[in-house]
Amino acid sequence: SLRVLTGITTTGTPHLGNYVGAIRPAIVASQQPDSDCFFFMADYHALIKCDDPARIERSRLEIAATWLAAGLDPERVTFYRQSDVPEVTELNWLLTCVTAKGQMNRAHAYKGATDANEAAGEDPDAGITMGLFCYPILMAADILLFNPHKVPVGRDQIQHIEMTRDVAARFNHLFGQGKEFFVLPEAHIEEQVATLPGLDGRKMSKSYDNTIPLFEGGAKALKDAVAKIVTNSLLPGEAKDPECHLVTIYEAFATPEQAAAFRAQLVAGLGWGDAKKQLVELIDAHIGPMRDKYQALMAHPEQIEELLQIGAMKARAVAAPLLKQVREAVGLRRMN
Ligand code: TYM
Repeated sequence: SLRVLTGITTTGTPHLGNYVGAIRPAIVASQQPDSDCFFFMADYHALIKCDDPARIERSRLEIAATWLAAGLDPERVTFYRQSDVPEVTELNWLLTCVTAKGQMNRAHAYKGATDANEAAGEDPDAGITMGLFCYPILMAADILLFNPHKVPVGRDQIQHIEMTRDVAARFNHLFGQGKEFFVLPEAHIEEQVATLPGLDGRKMSKSYDNTIPLFEGGAKALKDAVAKIVTNSLLPGEAKDPECHLVTIYEAFATPEQAAAFRAQLVAGLGWGDAKKQLVELIDAHIGPMRDKYQALMAHPEQIEELLQIGAMKARAVAAPLLKQVREAVGLRRMN
């Protein structure tokens, strides 16, 4: 069977980028008869960028309800919270000991932060925690603990998957004794939507405050956000260039025929206001029914908690035997 794993950091409200880049392809993969899927809430990762416990708890609930509303079947998928699987942190340490510091120096999140500090004339490491620096190792532990073949993610995560492969290969080389402990995972990227643009055309991201929420706030929040998509000032009747982020967002939800028709209308002079109306209708047709489910799920956090506890048991049953082998391989074997 094909093992598939992915996670979402519990720091914010799921947006359209999370959905088209990771959640939708993961759900599609989970519906293949031969797949064996592990989807989780990355709440240890959340601590790296957030020191607001209430926000982390709220985000975890929103993300869990989002997965379920988007069609995750907890009978088929191992669905859990990272922090309920302490094996992750143990593997994290074992991997930390075989990871080159120089490689972590090059990780985007850390390098982006030091570059920004330098540009501002500050100490490069100002405000940077060891959690941020070691972020890719924790992510490698999430992945390698379950030996998945495919990891559905957006383009911003590719470097992390490459680092995971490097760490896995190094560990196999040092301790494998001819055996491959770790599968080298592959990123599963949907080319069309690997970087969904946000309201301003940059990557849709919580950190740019340019997101369109997936379910939160209902149809009104969707409409209000779409209204804020930045366009040029061409008037109705003037030909629009369809190579723009509004069209990219439209195409993330459209059939090829719908996309071609939308482009043709813009070239023929469709006004931006009408284009936005069509965009809201298209997205709403896709996510409206899921949003109803989402709202019902959000009303029962205790039911979600129960599912996550079952998921954690299933995850640990897979993780523990692998971790035992890894411990033995590095010399932590018991005598008796
Ligand atoms: P996170 O929480 O930032 O994002 C979750 C997923 O959404 C994708 N994504 C996007 N895809 C397309 N267009 C966008 N604008 C966009 N914005 C976000 C991300 O690529 C990601 O797939 N480190 C990870 C979480 C994580 C993880 C893992 C993922 C922790 N452990 C193990 C996979 C496997 C993160 O912070 O993603």
